[in-house]
Amino acid sequence: MTSNAPATPALPADLEDAIARLKQERDAVVLAHYYQEDEIQDLADHVGDSLDLARVAQRVDKAVIAFCGVHFMAETAKILNPSRRVVVPDLAAGCSLADGCPADAFAGFLEVQRKQHPDLVVVSYVNTSAAVKALSDVICTSSNAVQIVRHFADRPIVFAPDRYLGAWVAKEAERPDLIIWPGSCIVHEQFNAKALAQLRVRHPDAEVLSHPECPPAVLEQSHFVGSTKKIIARAIESPAKTLVIGTEDGVFHQIRRSVPDKTLIQIPGMDESCACNRCPYMRLNTLEKLYLCLRDLRPEVTVPEDVRVRALRPLERMLELSS
Ligand code: 13P
Ligand code: SF4
Repeated sequence: MTSNAPATPALPADLEDAIARLKQERDAVVLAHYYQEDEIQDLADHVGDSLDLARVAQRVDKAVIAFCGVHFMAETAKILNPSRRVVVPDLAAGCSLADGCPADAFAGFLEVQRKQHPDLVVVSYVNTSAAVKALSDVICTSSNAVQIVRHFADRPIVFAPDRYLGAWVAKEAERPDLIIWPGSCIVHEQFNAKALAQLRVRHPDAEVLSHPECPPAVLEQSHFVGSTKKIIARAIESPAKTLVIGTEDGVFHQIRRSVPDKTLIQIPGMDESCACNRCPYMRLNTLEKLYLCLRDLRPEVTVPEDVRVRALRPLERMLELSS
C-alpha cells in the first residue's frame, strides 16, 4: 500500500553540527537551563538558572531564541523580548508549580485576600503562567525571593505558588505572616528526609546542598540552600570532597566539569525504584527536538499582547530589585 503522506526528511547523523549550522542560518541563540541533558547544555550559548536566563533573554539581539527549559521560562523570554521569535523543543514541557496555580483560581484567591488586606503585595515565583504573572506585583526566582520579600517589609504579602519555597522564604526573611499558595514541585517534594539522615551518617564529612523547593525536613538537614546556579557555585568552591545534592541531577554536569574528582550523591527519592527526582518536563527536550524546532521554527511560544504587557511590569520590577 502506498501512502500520500509527505516523507519526513531523516535526521542528520551529526546533530550537533547540524544544530550549529541551523543556529547561523536562523540567526538563533540557544538558551538552556541546568536541568537539561548534558549534550544540550554543551551546545547552548548560555546555560543558567531561571534568573540568569531571564536576564540573558531580555538582551538577546538575534531573531530567534530556542529555549531549552520549560514553558514558563520560554514565556518569560517572550514577555521580556517580544520582537524575538521564541521556539521550544517540546511544547508539553510544563511545570507542576505553574499547572497547580491556574489564573482564574488565583484571581479568586487574591480577591478574598484583598478584602482582609487592601494593601496586599503579590509576589509570584517565576514558575507561573504569564496570566498569573499578570495578576502579580512582582516576580521572584529562588535566587532573589528572600531579597524581594524583605523589600516589602511593611506590607502583607501573598507568596505563590510553592509552599516549600514560601515556608523557607518566610523563615529567612522573618515573615511568618506570608500568605502562601499551597503548590509544590513534583520533583523536589519527592526528596526523602529519612534517606538523607542515613546518608549523613554514612558520609559525615559531606556537605548537603538543596534547592528551596525541597520540603522543610530536607532543608533543615542542608548546610546550604539556594538556586541551581548557587548550588553549582557552592559545590565547586566547597572544601568538602563529597556533596549530597537535593535538586535535579542536571546540575551535576556543570559541577563535574569544574571539580571532576568530587563525589556527587543525589538525595534519594521517596520511591527509590523510580527516577522521580528527574524533572519529567525538562527531560522532554532532546537534541533531536532541538534540531527540529530550529529547522521548522516551531513549536513557537506566544503570549497575548494584553497579558504580556501586564506580566512585563512585575518581571521588570524583579530585575530592578535584584540588580
Ligand atoms: P532555578 O531558578 O534555581 O534554576 O530553579 C528553577 C526550577 O524550576 C527549579 O525546580
Ligand atoms: Fe517545575 Fe519542579 Fe520541573 Fe522545576 S523541577 S520545572 S519546579 S516541575
